Amino acid sequence: MKHFLQENDFSPEEIKDIFTHAFAYKANRAQRPTSDLAGQTWGMLFHKKSTRTRVSFEVGIRELGGNPLILDQSSTQIGRGESVEDTVKVLSRFLDGLVIRTHGHEIIEEFAQLGSIPVVNALTDFLHPCQIFADCMTILEKTGSSQDPYSLAGKKLTFYGDTQCNMANSWILAGALFGMNICLAGPPSFAPAEQILQYLKKFDLPATFEHQTDPVVAAGDADVLYTDVWVSMGCEEEAEERKRVMSPYQVTDSILTSAKPDALFMHCMPTHPGEEVSESVLASPQAILFDQAENRLHIQKAILRQLTQS
Ligand code: CP
Repeated sequence: MKHFLQENDFSPEEIKDIFTHAFAYKANRAQRPTSDLAGQTWGMLFHKKSTRTRVSFEVGIRELGGNPLILDQSSTQIGRGESVEDTVKVLSRFLDGLVIRTHGHEIIEEFAQLGSIPVVNALTDFLHPCQIFADCMTILEKTGSSQDPYSLAGKKLTFYGDTQCNMANSWILAGALFGMNICLAGPPSFAPAEQILQYLKKFDLPATFEHQTDPVVAAGDADVLYTDVWVSMGCEEEAEERKRVMSPYQVTDSILTSAKPDALFMHCMPTHPGEEVSESVLASPQAILFDQAENRLHIQKAILRQLTQS
């Protein structure tokens, strides 16, 4: 049995298979529902708010012929302190798999370790792997070269702002897996944290990233500019200080024109126009946010399919 907790949980062959199926699901969506999850019920446990992830998983499970079951914290015994161990052992008796959005990465690891059904990471404070796979699919689609994420090798992606957040960590991992050059453009105090460095060491993955404090230099030769909110869920108390130190890293027109002429602008959403990105960049034809959001559906269907094949 496999889980998808982090980008490197699948082998290269499995990853290529996921992308091939994601493109096929997108091209053949009119033929839904398929029978890939026929008869299966997947639980969706969200400890944090979500629009894109929750809706795309719910729709995706239905489109694969399965049944999604929403398990929000406030209406289950988890909200009253029932242990992860008892919860996942019980859920494993009813469900075929679990999609979880939670806080600490160790919580999702515990669910995977103690249960007997596949677990999918729908975001932790440390990583957001479903978003990254959807983003890589979108870059492939927009550059029109291939459906193979390993063909992204050599591309430069510059991530602006909170260079310690889960999306920055996940891009560090994606860079290591696919051979991309990841430039993290953020304040000196936001250099990649020990947790992600230890993670690379643990899995013997190469460090294909640099931390750059000059936002214009960071854009040089970039194929993709990427940003995320400056105040992630759970960091609200630090909001004012974060906005102060990250303000030089707003993605503006002048940053966009410092990248390659055909550079893409990406954001996992929700956006805060005028904070991490200017309104004009969001309105630019180079911004591909809604394609990214749509591709969450197709790649997650392919991830669920792959987990049920294992
Ligand atoms: N990008 C993303 O995960 O969006 P949601 O928080 O709305 O799910």
